[in-house]
Amino acid sequence: MRKAITAPEVIVGLELGSTKVSAVVGEVDADGITILGLGNVPCRGLRKGVVSNIEWTVRSIREAIDAAQTMAGVEINTVYAGVAGSHVRSQVSDGVCAISGREVTRADLDRVLEGARAIPVDADRMILHALPREYIVDNQDGIRDPIGMSGVRLQVRVNLVTAATSCVQNVIRCVERCGLSVADVVLQPLASADAVLSEDEKEIGVAVIDMGGGTTDLLLYADGGITHTSVIPAGGNSITSDVAAGLRTPMAEAERLKRNSGCALGRMISDDEEIEVPGVGGHSPRRVARRLLSDIIEPRVEEIFSEARRRMEETGLLEQLSSGCVLTGGATLMEGMVECAEEVLGMPVRLGFPVGIKGIVQLVQGPQYATGVGLVRYGAQRLAESEGREDAAALPERAAERTAAQGAKSGFWNWLRAAF
Ligand SMILES: Nc1ncnc2c1ncn2[C@@H]1O[C@H](COP(=O)(O)OP(=O)(O)OP(=O)(O)O)[C@@H](O)[C@H]1O
Ligand SMILES: [Mg+2]
Repeated sequence: MRKAITAPEVIVGLELGSTKVSAVVGEVDADGITILGLGNVPCRGLRKGVVSNIEWTVRSIREAIDAAQTMAGVEINTVYAGVAGSHVRSQVSDGVCAISGREVTRADLDRVLEGARAIPVDADRMILHALPREYIVDNQDGIRDPIGMSGVRLQVRVNLVTAATSCVQNVIRCVERCGLSVADVVLQPLASADAVLSEDEKEIGVAVIDMGGGTTDLLLYADGGITHTSVIPAGGNSITSDVAAGLRTPMAEAERLKRNSGCALGRMISDDEEIEVPGVGGHSPRRVARRLLSDIIEPRVEEIFSEARRRMEETGLLEQLSSGCVLTGGATLMEGMVECAEEVLGMPVRLGFPVGIKGIVQLVQGPQYATGVGLVRYGAQRLAESEGREDAAALPERAAERTAAQGAKSGFWNWLRAAF
């Protein structure tokens, strides 16, 4: 028999972003997640979501973990690590198993999910998650949680998320070099979405756009499950480069101008507003219209949202995104982002901040911490999964997601056994 959640447990989410590494420390008990601390340090060891310099990444992880340990007053040994990048792909797969007229059990779900994972993937790729879209018991389809239902045959349709094995191994290697172990690797956009969405939005259908530094991740919830995930290889750093080139100013100044005066929709700026632009190579600063800055920013932001819209159309799910779109990631802090997204996507848009947490929430309140918080939530779901279904009900999550977590767990350990 499974044991109940008896003592609070510390869970650490480690986000490896293109601009920063952040370690979010949460304590989980039957009442939910309490944020205890955060370690956030800049990192230049990743490019477009993928580790490109192991030494730099390891150094940033160490610093982030040290800071998080000090703030939370706990020792960190294990983390849930995020992976991202355009090597991540998703495809649909089906699994089927016999239930011979009895009630469906959790063991049946494990079996049918294992079946859905049993498809050939390229030798250099691994399965990261099997995310159930629907279960089918005999002829009844569209079932979210089939446990307790009776039938002869159980089928599942999953979104199988695969990643380049070497990219995942590099993440694990960096974490282990810091003397930490990896409890699981999790797709970062999945974590971000989980942190900012309400159950209603997931139910009705919603798009999540996580615009970070190196990449913009797109994730679609439709039909009650995750139906699409992909990565657009541009983000806040592309905007900064455009500003540096367009205004002929150093990158650090472009970043500052973008953060302090940037706007994603030129129309929102009055013609008389001015900004001071420092020159490069000893050239003296000059004053230009703030509108000029947004004229540089707007096309890039528009391009990213247009690409997201094109991908939504391509999936054929656009009509099902009735809740519209939720923006998260540091780059969406810019003025005018919501308005620009609404125009390009043609749907209601809101900013997404991490929800469903207690404790020092102001630490992780920004959209740039959605992934770290989501990783803690993922770990909490895994804990609930292993400690009993009754207690799991106290945690903010759904059966399908718990199943997804479990599927990922078994796949991860199977893969680890095979890889090392
Ligand atoms: N106030 C702001 N206005 C505009 N952009 C901002 C602001 N604050 C942060 N950014 C931008 O957000 C980006 C970093 O966002 P975030 O921390 O979500 O990225 P990341 O997780 O490190 O990267 P990725 O998710 O691409 O791997 C940077 O490009 C930064 O310039
Ligand atoms: Mg990120």
